[in-house]
Amino acid sequence: MSRSQPIRAARGMRDILPEQRALWRRVEMAGEAAASSYGYEEIEVPIIEPAALIERVGGDTDVVRKEIYRLQGHGDASGEREGLLALRPEATAGVVRAYFQGGLNQLSQPVRLTTTGPMFRHDRPQAGRYRQFYQFDLEVIGDPSPAYDAEVIEVSRQWLSSLGLSGVSLVLNSIGDGRCRPAYLQKLREYYRPLKRRLHHDCQRRLEANPLRLLDCKEEQCQPFKAAAPRITDHLCQPCAEAFAEVRSLLDLAAIEYRLDAHLVRGLDYYTRTVFEFEHAALGGAQNALGGGGRYDGLAAALGYPDTPAVGFAGGIDRVVLGLPESNGDGPAQLWVLPVERGLEAEAARVGRLCRAELPAVVDFSRRSLSAKMRAAGRAGSRWVAIMAADEAQRQAVQLRDMRSGDQREVPWDQLAVVIAGSLSS
Ligand code: HAM
Repeated sequence: MSRSQPIRAARGMRDILPEQRALWRRVEMAGEAAASSYGYEEIEVPIIEPAALIERVGGDTDVVRKEIYRLQGHGDASGEREGLLALRPEATAGVVRAYFQGGLNQLSQPVRLTTTGPMFRHDRPQAGRYRQFYQFDLEVIGDPSPAYDAEVIEVSRQWLSSLGLSGVSLVLNSIGDGRCRPAYLQKLREYYRPLKRRLHHDCQRRLEANPLRLLDCKEEQCQPFKAAAPRITDHLCQPCAEAFAEVRSLLDLAAIEYRLDAHLVRGLDYYTRTVFEFEHAALGGAQNALGGGGRYDGLAAALGYPDTPAVGFAGGIDRVVLGLPESNGDGPAQLWVLPVERGLEAEAARVGRLCRAELPAVVDFSRRSLSAKMRAAGRAGSRWVAIMAADEAQRQAVQLRDMRSGDQREVPWDQLAVVIAGSLSS
């Protein structure tokens, strides 16, 4: 590469710059608050996992077939190789692994867990779809009761509504289990086989391997056939039908509105029974899911652990940030300390330190003019500036200016925080 060519971020990767990061933090904190108020405990799992763990989440899903970032592990001194590794495309498989490996399966059940962090999927980048994106994740492992399905939905909804997001709707379905789904899939194949040549090529391939995915295909040419396709909810076995009825009745009792959609099947293979998604009206097309989840009673066994029921949710933080209302209120009040001339650095730093107990304070040590410093403070959205000239510094005072009203007056250093706090509360 030529030396003059500046190096940019890898395709599909992006920086979260400070202004956006503040929104990000708000979304993460809302997640932490919602999760902890329902008794979910935090867990961190590695970003790199054995590729085999990731592959078990769905052999024929796009996530596993096309989107995994694989890494070749290194050998160590003993000559043992780590084997193929992968960047996690989601957190659920890692959390389930950690639940067993860390002995959480020995605790009183179920175990409620939450985690937040970056996930990686090598998909075509577009608005709302990134190769590194962030999820807020909830998992309840170790109990089959549909009441946990309803609870996970409630916590997820609480997270979204505490952020003031409007236009969010909940879509719900049941995709049955190992008892009733195979017969349904057979019916689905029989329905689609005569139509095969009219389907998109991905759907032609999926028809035998993973026909459920035909139901959420977004390709134009496949749409006309969906309406008449057999519906999974007409083919649930009795235990699945009862579980689904219980989830719905619990949601009704909690006054949580939802829309039933027999075409909702989700993009990962591990689901059984309840599946759900939160859609956002303003986010476009295929990227309108703010989050989703469901029950995955078969995943633990697929990873080589004892059969263990579980249910969970993951929300896409990137998409939630995109959907946040424009105005986010005032943000924290900020003070900028502006020494007018050189030689006042120590005094300005001291004023900053004195004020920081009350509010974030920035000291502008640059050599630009006072008016340039004022402009910079204004652009940063600072409510207050403390202008410090040498004669005032000698009296241990500054000119405190309210950038909103334009009022300005002399205030002693040790009174600054109190004066600002008083104005904020009045
Ligand atoms: P998922 O539906 O694959 O589920 O992802 C959850 C959410 O992550 C999506 O609804 C979306 O908001 C966000 N998301 C996914 N891919 C991208 C992307 N490329 N760019 C931006 N955002 C994205 C899961 O990951 C499951 N682990 C959820 C779960 C937890 N099921 C049970 N427990």
